[in-house]
Amino acid sequence: MEDQQLTMPRIGDMAPDFVAMTTTGKMQFSEYIKGKWVILFSHPADFTPVCTTEMSGFALEQKFFDELDTKLVGLSIDSIHSHIAWVNNVKKNTGVLFEFPIIADIDMKVSKLYGMLQPGESETAAVRAVFFIDPSGKIRLIMYYPLNVGRNMEEIKRVLLALQAADKYKVAMPLNWKPGEKVIVPPPKTVEEMLEREASDYEMVDFYLAKKELV
Ligand code: BEZ
Repeated sequence: MEDQQLTMPRIGDMAPDFVAMTTTGKMQFSEYIKGKWVILFSHPADFTPVCTTEMSGFALEQKFFDELDTKLVGLSIDSIHSHIAWVNNVKKNTGVLFEFPIIADIDMKVSKLYGMLQPGESETAAVRAVFFIDPSGKIRLIMYYPLNVGRNMEEIKRVLLALQAADKYKVAMPLNWKPGEKVIVPPPKTVEEMLEREASDYEMVDFYLAKKELV
């Protein structure tokens, strides 16, 4: 395998730019994502069962993502004709329409750029990747699932809410955090901050582990 095929973007990297054909037209990724939260996700192949459940899951949550000002972009190593036929087939069979763009990555360019092609799993199909990209274009969270295990939509929604809340309130999220639960206040950086914290009403295990309600 060439080096490029082993590229793995990392958390904190700027999302690599590309031009691609999609089910909603030609896309310059940097333009599409400008100023928005974006979830870029790959699936191994059109007309396959697990992928159909996953893509339908994203489509059924379209309103949820719209309300969080978050754009969706799907991808697989299939042609635009295959994508369109699959979108049509799912719509006819289940009434669910995939409105978000799906990249036709037939030359594997984007899959390689984003480390979605993992040869130990498949030489020809993208793994189930999910990239969460913030409005500055930075990759903030990455998930990779194998071909035979579907992703968890509740977890995808949870981490998007967690990332957005962490940024907005400058806090961190503890194990299994869900919206409405207490969040972690970042540890104090000075003795003065530590003393202030001791006088606060935070739920505190010790000065470095303190939680508060989000108001
Ligand atoms: C599926 O989506 O069902 C699937 C796709 C590729 C390999 C295995 C399962």
